[in-house]
Amino acid sequence: MTTSRLLAALSPRVRDTVDRWLEIASLFREIKDPKVARSLGPAGVRGLILQRGKQGTPSRFPASHDAFFDWSYPADQPAMAELYARAKRGQWDGDSLPWSTSVDPLDPSRPLLPDGFLDYSILEAHGIHLDPAEKARLRADLAAWMLSQFLHGEQGALMAACQVTEAVQFFDGKLYGGTQVVDEGRHVEVFHRYLDTKLEKLYQVNDNLFVIIDALMVDRRWDMKFLGMQIMVEGLALGAFGTLYKITREPLLRQLLKMVIQDEARHVHYGVLALREHITKELSDAERREREDWSFEVALLMRNRFMAYEVYDEWFAHKLSRDAWRRFVTRAPGMEEFRHTMFSRLVPNLREIGLLTPRIQARYDEVGLMRYFDGVSADHLTGDQMIADLDRGAVDPKAA
Ligand SMILES: [Fe+2]
Ligand SMILES: [Fe+2]
Repeated sequence: MTTSRLLAALSPRVRDTVDRWLEIASLFREIKDPKVARSLGPAGVRGLILQRGKQGTPSRFPASHDAFFDWSYPADQPAMAELYARAKRGQWDGDSLPWSTSVDPLDPSRPLLPDGFLDYSILEAHGIHLDPAEKARLRADLAAWMLSQFLHGEQGALMAACQVTEAVQFFDGKLYGGTQVVDEGRHVEVFHRYLDTKLEKLYQVNDNLFVIIDALMVDRRWDMKFLGMQIMVEGLALGAFGTLYKITREPLLRQLLKMVIQDEARHVHYGVLALREHITKELSDAERREREDWSFEVALLMRNRFMAYEVYDEWFAHKLSRDAWRRFVTRAPGMEEFRHTMFSRLVPNLREIGLLTPRIQARYDEVGLMRYFDGVSADHLTGDQMIADLDRGAVDPKAA
């Protein structure tokens, strides 16, 4: 008997629990490299099995990196110094967003997500027929879920920016890092304020996002923190912010995202500068290979695992199988656009920092990600250019 037939024979409640365990098991099986498993495994247990992000209590992560001081204050990285100057000029106040805008998540003239974002035929094939008001509510909840995950990711970015500022050995990088800490604090502020006062909803942290944040907080190697946060999480977030900016019709959210994108473009640029120098000049081949495998596994984790189960639990638990929900989310036209933009941002940066050597390219090719290889990397793209591209409707012409 196949797994899906076996699951179908169970009661909905047992079926959903078994499906969750099978999914966790398949994730651990997918991680082939033992070093990557050692890095992500303990965080996986805490995030996926124990669901530590969903206990309703604060989380404590035992950080153990070295804080790097330099008493000679060298001007060591001109490109980072230039980014620092740009970051100082680019500071803005979260209070200055047009908070007086009245936001109704169900207003059809200003939808958070457009009507065509979801394809309801998969739900209908399973006997679930939503009326137009329910469809609008589901899309509004999905938008609140996404924004909640952005907020949780921003909290991770705030702590990671503090850690990398301590740990990085470039002095110009430390000065720049100070501005990123302020930026991330402001992002936490504005996303939280939007969710709290406009949507009046906050979803719990997604288990997979928790795993990545946990792994980065406790890894003592500064470059792994950089790779995970500045390149993977922020790179994908930048793509996600861009997509949402392009498709949402809610004016306050558009303005908020526009301002956040300007900051995030600098953060990813900084990640590319710091890691290109380090990975191509300072690491041994074995160390570089480990980072190459790690980023591939994390890219897959992020591509395949953000299934908005928190929304499923609220709407369809025990009414629709988790498998059908996964298909519904994966095949949603809006989600396809998200994946496209996110990876068109991420893959060129991995190439630029030396983590897309011919050795790993076949694996990226197998999962359809090599088509983004020739895109523009973050060190050649400012936030203003990104916004101009999004306003014109182009994401990344070379990657399209
Ligand atoms: Fe941020
Ligand atoms: Fe950031």
